[in-house]
Amino acid sequence: MPACQLQSIRRRQWLAACAGAALLPAAGSGTTQPQITLRFSHVVAEETPKGLAANRFKVLVEQRSGGRIGVQVFPNAQLYGDANEMQALQLGAVDLVAPSLSKFGRIGLPEFELFDLPFLFDDLNAVRRITLGPLGQRLLQGLQRQGLVGLGYFDNGFKQMSANRPLLEPKDFVGLRMRVQASQVIAAQMRALGARPVTLAFSETRRALATGVVDGTENPVSNFWTQGMDEVQTDLSLTNHGYLGYAVVTNQRLWNYLTQPDRDLVNQALQDSLGFANQMADTQNDKALIALRLAHTTRIHTLSQAQRDLMRQAVQPVHQELARRIGSEWLQTLREALGQKGI
Ligand code: LMR
Repeated sequence: MPACQLQSIRRRQWLAACAGAALLPAAGSGTTQPQITLRFSHVVAEETPKGLAANRFKVLVEQRSGGRIGVQVFPNAQLYGDANEMQALQLGAVDLVAPSLSKFGRIGLPEFELFDLPFLFDDLNAVRRITLGPLGQRLLQGLQRQGLVGLGYFDNGFKQMSANRPLLEPKDFVGLRMRVQASQVIAAQMRALGARPVTLAFSETRRALATGVVDGTENPVSNFWTQGMDEVQTDLSLTNHGYLGYAVVTNQRLWNYLTQPDRDLVNQALQDSLGFANQMADTQNDKALIALRLAHTTRIHTLSQAQRDLMRQAVQPVHQELARRIGSEWLQTLREALGQKGI
């Protein structure tokens, strides 16, 4: 068996062992034929905050419905990936997706790119002031414009930069091709740092790094580790420069089709899974960082406050650029909710 496959099995066993406590015995599996089966598609590995949340949701729905409602989870872009998961949802080819908040701009909801603004959130509590507050609800309601229903948010965590050199100051980014999600804010952030943004699907990122199509990328450590990006990137710089979170979305048709009691059951199971996911988010990223340190596959760098300030300054214009694109009212409301001044 090739080494990298052995390494990724070891990697998955490691994180699965960490998450062991999180798994509950499946209820009613294999006995009652579900009357309704919900197909939940996502693009990341199972041992990530999103993967664990989706599996917890499956168990809770099947347990609480006595097996009458089944959930099939398709991780790792098995069914649909970044390029087509939203369309598949709108067409009813799948019932639930949980894309990164960075991926709603390209389906006509650029206001979600507020979450991509670099150095905006000091910590996850600040993020939750938005996701659990009126601005977060207003953003989810906007999904109705696309025939979608936003059910809730959950975290992955803060993003780090990786490449085959340390990325500690803006000058280190000059000329690099950096893989980004399909977000204009993140692309502008990379340009402001002197790099060239390259939009690629998540599932293509590791291969693009391995073959040199791109030089670097940004992601929370749990994604970096579970995708084996440490095997193709020599340096990880702990910049904590931006937030990566998700929204769970279904389509209006399915939601209307469910009876009220079933909608309540599915919604409650989801809210409970999102709460669990947020608990998991911190630990999964911390544990992935420990695993990385133990693996010695990539050098890990921490930025000084002065280096963080230099990077924050360099990307500040991105905030004004978004205000011009979606209207400054959104940023004003966001800043007020965060207790911050200016735009
Ligand atoms: C990415 O594309 O980098 C992430 O959004 C993947 C994910 O869903 O965490």
